[in-house]
Amino acid sequence: MNQDVIAVAIDGPAGAGKSTVARAVAQALGFVYVDTGALYRTIGLAVCRRGLDGTDVPGVLAVLPEIQVTLAYQDGAQHVLLDGEDVSDAIRTPQISTYASQVSSVPAVRAYLLDLQRNMARRQSVVMDGRDIGTVILPDAQVKIFLTASPETRAARRFAELKDKGTEPVSYARILEDMKARDALDASRAVAPLKQAPDAVLLDTSEMTLDESIQAVLSIVRRRIKGD
Ligand code: DC
Repeated sequence: MNQDVIAVAIDGPAGAGKSTVARAVAQALGFVYVDTGALYRTIGLAVCRRGLDGTDVPGVLAVLPEIQVTLAYQDGAQHVLLDGEDVSDAIRTPQISTYASQVSSVPAVRAYLLDLQRNMARRQSVVMDGRDIGTVILPDAQVKIFLTASPETRAARRFAELKDKGTEPVSYARILEDMKARDALDASRAVAPLKQAPDAVLLDTSEMTLDESIQAVLSIVRRRIKGD
């Protein structure tokens, strides 16, 4: 890794607040924010649009060479492109969450996205969030944080977020059930399961406000970078 650039890897389960925290931390530090979940979601969307099931592994494998996934930045905000089309909004549905989780357990999908993620961190300082950033993608990251919260807290946050957006009504119970199912799938898959890197700092945000979570991450990053 280029010594002049710094990588902050933030891993953790769905709904722990990773993306909001990581985005704010990146902005505070002047680093580029990379949301890697968006990449898996984009492949999920491509599979869904072809009318395939997310668990149809041969089908998923056949889609990979046919598509192009690209990251673009506009005013500091990440956009993800599928064959040149900006799909940043289209990938944010509960259906595509499920597709993303399913395709992310296919080793070829993870291999397909590996270089794209590593290249992002090669020339610029990044805050990258995902499930296997500290363990697989950027094992040499200077700062690794495992951000988590209880399933109930995470489901309540996601529920509030959907309500704010005015998205179709989904019950809290349903979100909690989906979240637990997704956690189990993400943690039990054979390739790059969700797990804390041995050298990651564990941060449980169940009892923290968003601002407290951001400040906590910033202080971990600053302490690590200063080397104390
Ligand atoms: O963070 P997210 O909800 O946008 O992620 C969508 C899915 O992609 C999630 O089920 C796990 C998977 N994922 C992954 O396997 N590895 C990553 N680095 C990021 C996301």
